[in-house]
Amino acid sequence: MKSNLMQGESLGLKTLPRHIAIIMDGNGRWAKKRLMNRVRGHEQGSDTVRAIVTASREIGIKILTLYAFSTENWARPESEVKALMGLLKKFILAEREDLQKNNIRLNVIGQKHRLPLDVCQELDATLELTQNNEEMILSLALSYGSREELTMAMQKIAVKIASKGLSPDDITEDLVTAHLYTSGMPDPDLIIRTGGEYRLSNFLLWQAAYSEIYITETLWPDFTRDEFIEILKNFQNRERRFGKVSCNTSNGG
Ligand code: FPP
Repeated sequence: MKSNLMQGESLGLKTLPRHIAIIMDGNGRWAKKRLMNRVRGHEQGSDTVRAIVTASREIGIKILTLYAFSTENWARPESEVKALMGLLKKFILAEREDLQKNNIRLNVIGQKHRLPLDVCQELDATLELTQNNEEMILSLALSYGSREELTMAMQKIAVKIASKGLSPDDITEDLVTAHLYTSGMPDPDLIIRTGGEYRLSNFLLWQAAYSEIYITETLWPDFTRDEFIEILKNFQNRERRFGKVSCNTSNGG
């Protein structure tokens, strides 16, 4: 994998994750600590998004999935939801040219149709503009929830059983995978959660079956490129067995 790091940064030759997914948590606490409105935390969090997208591209990560808005987040105060949608639109507009220039393809997973029309239009324009880019995929999870995704997949499969002669025996893991928002993408090799909570919060539950998980106490607005690189080094030193025994010992679990 091609890696383009800055002077002083080193990642060694071991395999890098192809697909990294991040639960960006802690914006609210970051703001609270500073006696600020939660929205200030999200604004600062947007700057971290920019920094980590750039770092991922420079390091040579192929897919970066960011949990930007969950199906549960609709239940937040209307003013916060509105501010988050505004930040999302601002981000898309500000980054569109750079995504194109840097050969990054934008992707969205989740209920895009639930987003405000103006946000949807800007997303669609960027999705279309960047659709043939090949250096990296930036996948935004927007109005995303794993249970909704799996329910939708089951509904689509049920329709095929009812109307297209698909038999229950045809329901395989590959078929389920093909009906998810992430269809065609490899599963995340690494899931990072900032903000110190030990849970997946309805994020990529099917796809996370063999993902390595890294939880950091750092709040998302404070998360830096340097810490990101340290986490990648940590990943490079893990042994992934996928339920099999170790290559080096027969006692693996
Ligand atoms: C969780 O923090 C974060 C979110 C619900 C939204 C994430 C959004 C951004 C990082 C900014 C906008 C996104 C893009 C792609 C430009 P929290 O509010 O739950 O924090 P807390 O747990 O400390 O309250």
